[in-house]
Amino acid sequence: MSGLAVRFRELWDEIAPIGRDAHSGGYLRYALTAPELRLREWFRAQADLRGMPVSGDGNGNLFAWWGEPPTGGPNTGDPDTGGPAGAGAVLTGSHFDSVPHGGAYDGPLGIVSALLAVDELRAAGVTPVRPVVVAAFVEEEGARFGVPCLGSRLLTGEIDADRAAGLRDAAGVSFAEALGHRPAGADPALLGRFAAFVELHVEQGRALVDADAPVAVASAIWPHGRWRFELRGEGNHAGTTRMADRRDPMLTFAFTVLAANKEARLRDAHATVGRVAVEPNATNAIPSTVTGWLDARAAAPETLDGLVEAVRAKAAERARRDGTELTVTRESATPLVTFDGGLADRLAGLLAAPVLPTGAGHDAGVLAAHLPTAMLFVRNPTGVSHSPAESATDADCAAGVVALARVLEELACH
Ligand code: GLV
Ligand code: MN
Ligand code: MN
Ligand code: MN
Repeated sequence: MSGLAVRFRELWDEIAPIGRDAHSGGYLRYALTAPELRLREWFRAQADLRGMPVSGDGNGNLFAWWGEPPTGGPNTGDPDTGGPAGAGAVLTGSHFDSVPHGGAYDGPLGIVSALLAVDELRAAGVTPVRPVVVAAFVEEEGARFGVPCLGSRLLTGEIDADRAAGLRDAAGVSFAEALGHRPAGADPALLGRFAAFVELHVEQGRALVDADAPVAVASAIWPHGRWRFELRGEGNHAGTTRMADRRDPMLTFAFTVLAANKEARLRDAHATVGRVAVEPNATNAIPSTVTGWLDARAAAPETLDGLVEAVRAKAAERARRDGTELTVTRESATPLVTFDGGLADRLAGLLAAPVLPTGAGHDAGVLAAHLPTAMLFVRNPTGVSHSPAESATDADCAAGVVALARVLEELACH
């Protein structure tokens, strides 16, 4: 193993036990819960070891600065000097939070790789002319409060701070309560200090296995979103209610799931219903309400719109037949992201790496609308993600660090 792969493993092992579920082997690292708070403390300690001051943005995002940190700002508690400190910085990093029983790499790999890339550059005697900033974004998965990329959406103003403040987790705790204060919202002054963002991420499919390459550069993120399908019928006794007399929302729901699958296949798109809530959720009761969350993604926005509309129409038609009521609410939407083509080509040339699109959402997708943004993917031998089976070898992670260090040098030294 290379020295860098060994250093990667050492750092990786420090966080590996945090939030790990002994039964599934997956991670329960929901934003601002105890395991994620421990990871944030670890991040602060790592930044401290490297002499990198950490600033916040009042939204739960953290930034560790190599080079001049910002001299204050409306959201850091200090008076905003409006000075040029930290201008033109190159931002990198990712997120610590996970989906329920998620893999180890989705998120933390981008943060750990960024810290190691800083070490590599320093060891090589590289002195950037612009600051390099390592970010830990909050609630990227939306697993706790329902809106993915909540931290980057707040920073960029793509979600209203009041709406974000009122988002609630399954226990009824609001985002503002979890954060300890109302989120500060858009911070154009801080955003204006960043000249570029590069997020390194484990690949979430098998394209790099097929390409036989350890690292790729991203070209685009499919447009995607989440829709809540709420179906109301009549709760009743499972043993005594005649089949003909039932208004069973589970039937409508089952049909809706099949329709989503069929409509996605027809369009070469992706539709998933991975979460469902049933009331009263009893074996011997016809449900009164079934709520299912549709995650839909497609290569083109019009394909996505057509898919969701078709599923909605089929669900509504079926609800009429079942005597149930359907309400569809869009919970989040992420438009098609085409990463800065010039930057992607430049980095692909620099790294001799393939360029590929992805169907997964990232903070990079949100930031891409505001500053030149690129992503690097690290090969995942299983091709599985959002699951404990997600994987990456130490050697490929080291290759990812080397690639990220080269990219940071390219962007921060000229
Ligand atoms: C987040 O990882 C997503 O793509 O849903
Ligand atoms: Mn994810
Ligand atoms: Mn991720
Ligand atoms: Mn993601």
